[in-house]
Amino acid sequence: MKNLKRQEIIIKTRGFEYKVLIEDHLTSESGKAIDLLFHSKKALLISDYNVHEFYGGKIRQPLASSKWKIKTELVKPGERSKSLSEAKRLYEACFEAGLDRNSPILALGGGVIGDLAGFVAATFMRGVPLIMIPTSLLAQVDSSVGGKVAVNHPFGKNMIGAIYPPRLVLIDPQVLKTLPEREYQAGLPEIIKYGIIENESFFSYLEKKAQRLLKPDSEFLSEAIGQSIRSKSRVVEKDEFESDYRRILNFGHTIGHALEAATFYRYYLHGEAVLVGMLLAVKMAEEMSYLNHREAERISRLLGHLKIRKAPAGLTADQVIDKLEHDKKRQCDDLIFILPDQIGSAVIVPVNDRDLIAHLVSSYLKQ
Ligand SMILES: NC(=O)c1ccc[n+]([C@@H]2O[C@H](COP(=O)([O-])OP(=O)(O)OC[C@H]3O[C@@H](n4cnc5c(N)ncnc54)[C@H](O)[C@@H]3O)[C@@H](O)[C@H]2O)c1
Repeated sequence: MKNLKRQEIIIKTRGFEYKVLIEDHLTSESGKAIDLLFHSKKALLISDYNVHEFYGGKIRQPLASSKWKIKTELVKPGERSKSLSEAKRLYEACFEAGLDRNSPILALGGGVIGDLAGFVAATFMRGVPLIMIPTSLLAQVDSSVGGKVAVNHPFGKNMIGAIYPPRLVLIDPQVLKTLPEREYQAGLPEIIKYGIIENESFFSYLEKKAQRLLKPDSEFLSEAIGQSIRSKSRVVEKDEFESDYRRILNFGHTIGHALEAATFYRYYLHGEAVLVGMLLAVKMAEEMSYLNHREAERISRLLGHLKIRKAPAGLTADQVIDKLEHDKKRQCDDLIFILPDQIGSAVIVPVNDRDLIAHLVSSYLKQ
């Protein structure tokens, strides 16, 4: 197998910067990178039971041989663990681990662990260093960079949170080998999203590799993860000067979130719902003449290589639209959509035409 070079990406945010390292088998090497950054030699490792079984030892052993004291705290896999009650239990673990303000929290897992452990790191002693070691495709290309951390509240998802950038992000594409197939596929729409909204040449690269999306090799994964993170970091950095620009990252999320909420977060994986939202947003962009037919076709064709989850029986357009009307991002009477205006660029559009939205949602539900 070809030996791929380590990629180093520097993310600059609000006068602060951090490094993202991407390399095959980095998990076993991560101890060295962490040891170099801290004198504290104490850490709390937070993971879920699935991920810990595969990779917990690989993170702990090298650190233990460099005389680190690592306390490990595990949560049940899944969205329900992203709660204030789990955060409270983890604060207790922080005290038991004897963390001081220079002792890192290591977040080993998918987006749930990144958000939960990140929230604990942001708030324990008003902030301790956070190291992200993302293990799902979604976490590697999206949630581990950008600094958003949160837990859920019975009144809404991600309602209690902070913007808290990590000190280091360590990405090992090889860990995706143990990720369940459906979880892997749910990370792919986020990768294609960056090509559509921000990077035309990355979109063309993905078109050429369309047959590789579902059966990736190491080279494709490293390239796709690296390009996705560069894209996200360009958007996040630019947002400091152009407020709101970051919202283009929500391409596909308006209808995606409504589908997830209308099905009580039990039917779709996040990326599956976003994929449907992306397909409908492309149709909307064409209908509203933001995007020409040729480019809309190109985008739909590439997205068509992914598995599109059918709507569950009984879900109605009214139920989805009701959730859209309660979207926290709506403005007065308008619903906010992110629409591509050409491949590699997107705009934030307030949309009032409820008939068009209902027509698009119904077209998906009837498939
Ligand atoms: N903070 C952000 O910017 C941001 C962005 C997008 C999504 N999110 C959040 O991310 C969460 C979803 O993340 P997710 O899709 O990674 O879900 P997840 O963390 O629940 O992981 C999915 C499943 O895969 C398992 N898993 C993860 N990596 C594995 C591996 N390498 N091998 C075997 N099993 C593995 C997990 O145990 C879990 O069962 C949501 O809570 C969402 O709100 C946050």
